[in-house]
Amino acid sequence: MSERTFILVKPDGVARGLVGAVLDRAERKGLSLKALELLSVPEEVAAEHYAEHRDRPFYGELLGFITSGPVVAAVLEGPRAVTAFRQLAGATDPVEKAASGTIRGDFALETQANLVHGSDSAESAQREIALWFPDLSTT
Ligand code: CMP
Repeated sequence: MSERTFILVKPDGVARGLVGAVLDRAERKGLSLKALELLSVPEEVAAEHYAEHRDRPFYGELLGFITSGPVVAAVLEGPRAVTAFRQLAGATDPVEKAASGTIRGDFALETQANLVHGSDSAESAQREIALWFPDLSTT
């Protein structure tokens, strides 16, 4: 069964010219693009997107980082798309945890500037797609 996931190429990925590399890996895996946009993240979208991290010590920095430059937001679709993209992305800590061969494992050095975001569950994907692409039909 096909599902959708929401992904971001974060400001570090856009600044470093890695948008193509990220989308290339996703598309070669077999995920298809349903929506794609380059944008500067509005403060309120950043706050809502990261609401679950509100009480974490790095929350303020996280909002500062994600609004520091343009990001690429996308919706990908395919069988088990949520898990498939998280496997491609690798673990949050790109040095100690992300395996080589993953996007973070191959291209990132910092836990905050870790290149990409991918929804962590089907429920998060639904919430994030509604937040970032309110006009996208979910049917
Ligand atoms: P993301 O998948 O976007 O979800 C939450 C983000 O918080 C995560 O990727 C990292 O960019 C960031 N993050 C998680 N843990 C830390 C940490 N210990 N210090 C700084 N940033 C973090």
